[in-house]
Amino acid sequence: MSFNRLKGTYDITPKESDFYRHIQDTVSGILDNYGYKPVSFPVIEHASLFSRGVGETSDIVVKKEMYVFEDRGHRMIALRPEGTASAVRLYLENGLAMQGYSAKMYYTGPMFRAENPQAGRFRQFVQIGAEYLGDGNPFADAELIMINKKILDALGVKDYTVFINTIGDRNCRPKYLEALKEYFSGKRGELCEDCNKRYETNVLRILDCKEEKCRPVIDQAPSMHSLLCDDCGLHFEDVKRALDAMKVPYRVDQRLVRGLDYYNRTVFEIKSASLGAQSTLSAGGRYDYLIRELGGMETPAAGFALGIERLGMAVENSAKKNKEEFYRAPSVYVAFIGDEYRLKAAEFISVLAEQGISAVTEYRYSALKKHLKAADSMKAPFALFIGEDEVKKGEFTLRDLANGEQFQGSIGAIAARLKGRKADG
Ligand code: HAM
Repeated sequence: MSFNRLKGTYDITPKESDFYRHIQDTVSGILDNYGYKPVSFPVIEHASLFSRGVGETSDIVVKKEMYVFEDRGHRMIALRPEGTASAVRLYLENGLAMQGYSAKMYYTGPMFRAENPQAGRFRQFVQIGAEYLGDGNPFADAELIMINKKILDALGVKDYTVFINTIGDRNCRPKYLEALKEYFSGKRGELCEDCNKRYETNVLRILDCKEEKCRPVIDQAPSMHSLLCDDCGLHFEDVKRALDAMKVPYRVDQRLVRGLDYYNRTVFEIKSASLGAQSTLSAGGRYDYLIRELGGMETPAAGFALGIERLGMAVENSAKKNKEEFYRAPSVYVAFIGDEYRLKAAEFISVLAEQGISAVTEYRYSALKKHLKAADSMKAPFALFIGEDEVKKGEFTLRDLANGEQFQGSIGAIAARLKGRKADG
């Protein structure tokens, strides 16, 4: 009997893991520099946290995308479909509201959605999300968007666009929803089946429909911007001003709405032209009502989440390199010639590893030819030879496997040389 992974899931092999680590380290480094602290919360939560959090009319709930099961205590448990609701729960449950300053947090981990898999869309995928709880100032929104730019630039992603919009707040949005209902009511025959459902459940989401058939009707729909209240209008102007000052290029897309219910005011999506239908690398916005919705005091908040898989595809496309080409070989392969030098090899590997130099061998081999073949397969740049002559002299040979150049010296001298090389990059 053989086993295969489930549809919509994927493996990361040792050859690919350096690629994902590079992405993770770059993103974490930037978030650290902006004062966001890494946090962690469980993969499983009460299902009600999400149905309440992401909202009864969100795609996740309406399209039954949540993986839910009943545990032995008859509790309804969900595999988290996203991180914002959990981050808010963490904030409330750990009393972060009382700490006297805003909570800036980030998380990385798998999310689960029972969606139809396709290129860039998985059932288990990894998000890096950042949440900024406690500050309703437009600069908070702008900072989150700017951080996305920093991340994409640092990773060398070239072909992306930042789209922003405002969807108003509880004062002005109801009027807009009414205007949309009125507008679409006479045009339901021209809309697809999904949009007809959305008309009943969440009329705003019609704006997001990708069906060709619906586009002409949607293009003529009233715009939120004409109905914004003064506060929301000013907030959006200030977000744009802050982005200009931070030198973040953006495009206002008045039809941009989100598939999760908790947003108000600013929403944004960052799309890559090099990806297919699933082109959104990162998405987020402001969610000033969610903390209260989940049992806390009304607290302004905003955040975003990047999809690692899509980000990875965009990095590969921009670098014109595939994941495996980001593989980092060990610094040196230790080749011992003769079984009696196996222990010496083990000793040297420890000496080098303790100095931060990744050193490997294949303990099962003791013949030069086999060692060199292994070193070549793992693309080690150097081989360190341990044989009878070397041990007698206490001087070992380090060979540059690209050009054959050799260096002889004590293990200390060899370690220093390898470290110098590393420092050179
Ligand atoms: P979201 O738009 O549902 O927002 O997901 C954010 C990102 O996660 C997407 O732009 C995409 O890159 C990735 N993603 C989503 N679903 C999939 C999938 N099935 N396969 C692969 N990648 C996927 C949120 O989750 C919000 N919690 C973001 C947020 C944080 N808003 C405020 N704070």
